[in-house]
Amino acid sequence: MNKKIVLTGDRPTGKLHLGHYVGSLKNRVKMQDSNEYEMFVFIADTQALTDNAKNPKKIIDNVLEVAIDSLSVGIDPNKTTYFIQSDVPQLTELNMYYLNLVNLGRLKRNPTIKEEIKQRGFGLSIPVGFLTYPISQAADITAFDANLVPVGEDQIPILEQVCEIVNTFNKTYGETLVMPEYIVPNTKGARRLPGTDGKQKMSKSAGNCIYLSDDPETVRKKVMSMYTDPNHIKVEDPGKTENNPVFIYLDALCKDRKKYEELKQHYEQGGLGDVTVKKYLIEVIEEILTPIREKRKYYEEHKEEVYEILKKGGEKAREKASKTLKRVKENMGINYFE
Ligand code: TRP
Repeated sequence: MNKKIVLTGDRPTGKLHLGHYVGSLKNRVKMQDSNEYEMFVFIADTQALTDNAKNPKKIIDNVLEVAIDSLSVGIDPNKTTYFIQSDVPQLTELNMYYLNLVNLGRLKRNPTIKEEIKQRGFGLSIPVGFLTYPISQAADITAFDANLVPVGEDQIPILEQVCEIVNTFNKTYGETLVMPEYIVPNTKGARRLPGTDGKQKMSKSAGNCIYLSDDPETVRKKVMSMYTDPNHIKVEDPGKTENNPVFIYLDALCKDRKKYEELKQHYEQGGLGDVTVKKYLIEVIEEILTPIREKRKYYEEHKEEVYEILKKGGEKAREKASKTLKRVKENMGINYFE
């Protein structure tokens, strides 16, 4: 039986943090190690450049950061084709054909794009490449005949638009492209891990992230200064665990479910101090980060190996994508010389 093809990618706009770990990386490695899927994972540098064109260095530097983070978490190049988006020109070519299948009105109605335009005050100054990134994402996905695309919740409207493009292409030129399905994380903590300050989301600009590359002392400081229940003043006071980031982190990260339930109950009842819970959270985080840090150290000392992995992945990715591109052009009838 043919394995289902899984494809997903990260924009290299910063180092990866615990939010990425619970929201995508952990599951990615699990899918990879199950050996049930054929996996493609890539670093979406072309896409990240759509809104960082004037500052390419940021993206280029972060390609290495994201690669080291991902390999350290357990992406295994022997099991997963791991590559850089710009290293596969077939994606750009597919994008060119798909651009004609979407109209401006539909793009502007895409809720993710609409929100970005609003939040960032783009108006008509939105870079055209950024506006059309749902279309290039259709190229990324269809080039690999992906059946399953794990993404964050904010990406659902993008994936819906990708499905429309697949549909339009197949209706116009005959069955050519594989219709993908998206998968989103299934727990609240994994969907959106709050920042250490209790705000909505970990984000670099808010300075509320715990990075996979943070050293133990940094982790300790960040956890110790984490926001908790502001009304839990004395140890004996009953505390709230709901919307309390320390407990949301424990829920998302703690493998010992019995211990987690006990702590939660004790805290809600009163008699459990924040410092005790935070110390336990540090232990839980360290258990996850220690092996990641060890591997990170190795890859930081062997950067040439990291680039070699990406280069090999690129070769495999091009091989797969060029087959799709050939099929696409044949079905469109633009294979003049065959
Ligand atoms: N847009 C995705 C994000 O911001 C990254 C991405 C680019 C992607 N191309 C993709 C994800 C294709 C899944 C499939 O996270």
